[in-house]
Amino acid sequence: MIPFKVTDGIDCFRAIDWDRELFDELVPLPEGTTYNAYLVTGSDKTALIDTVYPPKTDEFIAALRRAGVRRIDYIVANHAEQDHSGSIPAVLELFPDARVVTNAKCKRFIMDTLPVARDAFITVGEGHSLPLGGRTLQFLMTPWVHWPDTMTTCVPEAKIAFTCDFLGAHLATTEAFADDEARVETAAKRYYAEIMMPYRGFSREAVDKVGALDLDFIAPSHGPVYARPSFILDLYRAWTADEPKPYVVIPYVSMYESTARMVAYLTDRLIERGLGVRPINVVGLDTGDYAMSLVDASTIVFASPTVLSGPHPDVAYAALLANVLNPKAKYAAVVGSFGWEGNLPEIVRDMLPKLGARFFEPVMVKGLPREAAFADLDRLADDIAAAHAAG
Ligand code: FEO
Repeated sequence: MIPFKVTDGIDCFRAIDWDRELFDELVPLPEGTTYNAYLVTGSDKTALIDTVYPPKTDEFIAALRRAGVRRIDYIVANHAEQDHSGSIPAVLELFPDARVVTNAKCKRFIMDTLPVARDAFITVGEGHSLPLGGRTLQFLMTPWVHWPDTMTTCVPEAKIAFTCDFLGAHLATTEAFADDEARVETAAKRYYAEIMMPYRGFSREAVDKVGALDLDFIAPSHGPVYARPSFILDLYRAWTADEPKPYVVIPYVSMYESTARMVAYLTDRLIERGLGVRPINVVGLDTGDYAMSLVDASTIVFASPTVLSGPHPDVAYAALLANVLNPKAKYAAVVGSFGWEGNLPEIVRDMLPKLGARFFEPVMVKGLPREAAFADLDRLADDIAAAHAAG
């Protein structure tokens, strides 16, 4: 771990996790990730903002020693998830007089999960500040980006905001700053879709709050530092906006070609009507790729054969994810096939109570789709196009 200077008096200790493939045993990490801790050095006090993932603790402590860090007065915990808080006990062992600075919720979570004593904490709230000498820590509560405990710490003198998970990206890189904006945008969008989209309204509020600050840097605890804050703030403004794009996502599975033929036919009809379409075969689904496709989609069409009277389990999983990821889609539909029984459309629809979408008439065929089924798909494409035209 080689620390780098962000700006005067602020250094980043970044643990790069090149090999991690899955976060929380759920989220794929095609480009690995980083865990960033920041050292803020004032003339009187020194603060550490966040720590690192427990398996990286030894590396982190060795880097602090190697850098000659002699004192840490405050360990600011912006968020209790252990990829940021997990090394707090080891830092306290090295600097026993340090106090853990965080909000009441985060304190509770840390005490629930880590061996940190109650009297080790200083509890802060919205707008509170701590002087370091020439540098001031200011705290903004930004809940639900990612957990209810999340907060942002700013140093106004350095025009920097430490946003922890918020605005971050799972991207293992040696680049200190987000200079390769195209690459960072893709990683940040994947991260937003997986982690932040379920709390989209809170992300929008946090963007407003952080966006109102006079900033030269945004320093998240995953991925590179933004030396052009408007880059990531503008992306978040677009992703969190309520208005979707004319874009249809079709998560599908096909066992004997019936559903695949319906998906291919519907895709062409939607393209003819001027809509963007993304069919996604959800067998072996990359959940991050799927989540990204949902960020701007206006319509989701679930397409499945009937399996044991209901949707194929992989389509059911795609529906479950769409329900919890809280995309901005306004419209939905179910298409598929069956052999002898089943009420697939109702089952899928019942799996999506939080989506809040208007459902179009489903299209179900017995066996292979024929003329009547294709006519129904024409009608569905017309319905989707008309809904878009009407706004
Ligand atoms: Fe990167 Fe919610 O932890």
